[in-house]
Amino acid sequence: MLIASSEVAHRHGRAYQYDHVAWCYETIARLGSFGAIPRLKAVQLEWISADARVLYVGAGSGEDVVRAAARGLDVTALDRSPRMLRRLGARLERAELRARLVEDDLLVFPPKGSYDVVVANFFLNVFEPATVEAMLARCRQHLADGGRLLIGDFRPPGPGLWRRLGYNLYYAPLNLGAWLLGLCAIHPIYDYATWFETASFEVVERRAVGLWGNGALSPACYETIIARAI
Ligand SMILES: C[S@@+](CC[C@H](N)C(=O)[O-])C[C@H]1O[C@@H](n2cnc3c(N)ncnc32)[C@H](O)[C@@H]1O
Repeated sequence: MLIASSEVAHRHGRAYQYDHVAWCYETIARLGSFGAIPRLKAVQLEWISADARVLYVGAGSGEDVVRAAARGLDVTALDRSPRMLRRLGARLERAELRARLVEDDLLVFPPKGSYDVVVANFFLNVFEPATVEAMLARCRQHLADGGRLLIGDFRPPGPGLWRRLGYNLYYAPLNLGAWLLGLCAIHPIYDYATWFETASFEVVERRAVGLWGNGALSPACYETIIARAI
């Protein structure tokens, strides 16, 4: 694969489970989240300083990667899906931006502890709990001490029967649909912070994102967790 604006390192060239949805994944995510996912990704840049070295894991076709590259950040995007990365490369090329693209499994790509920020947007929710733990440990190994992990994902529902019920009526069909497409495991909404002590992270902040804006009537179904590597 030749991507003029970007170098592609560590290429395996095998098809991967997300290849068949690469062409429509972001559109479905945008529609299914009522626009909350792109809003979440736009706000995330607040926590990334201008001189940071940033690794996007499970980057997909990378609307967030393009935003970060447009800000002039030093960006690496890692994903196992060749088609996702091809779309991302084409996007970068159209916008005349650069990022380092790595086609690899996060559990295989060798960590050097050299990134200031690792971003895992809608990536960890693909896996069974044991794999989430392994992925978080790997994210930690890619970070320098004091580096930051940003996780954009579904927000665990707060207390209250009605809130939980309403939320699960929204989440369960999405999880089932993605599972039927072979994209993820079936599981409840994870609270990644419960794995942080084992993975050597601590929570700095959790920023909720509402389904339709951040007003009182907008259920806060998504969030970015900002964590520090300890
Ligand atoms: C749900 S998509 C999220 C994509 C993107 N971060 C976003 O927010 O649109 C998950 C991505 O993780 C990638 N992926 C899954 N397992 C992976 C692994 N072990 N190593 C690297 N990437 C992986 C998939 O190819 C897919 O592009």
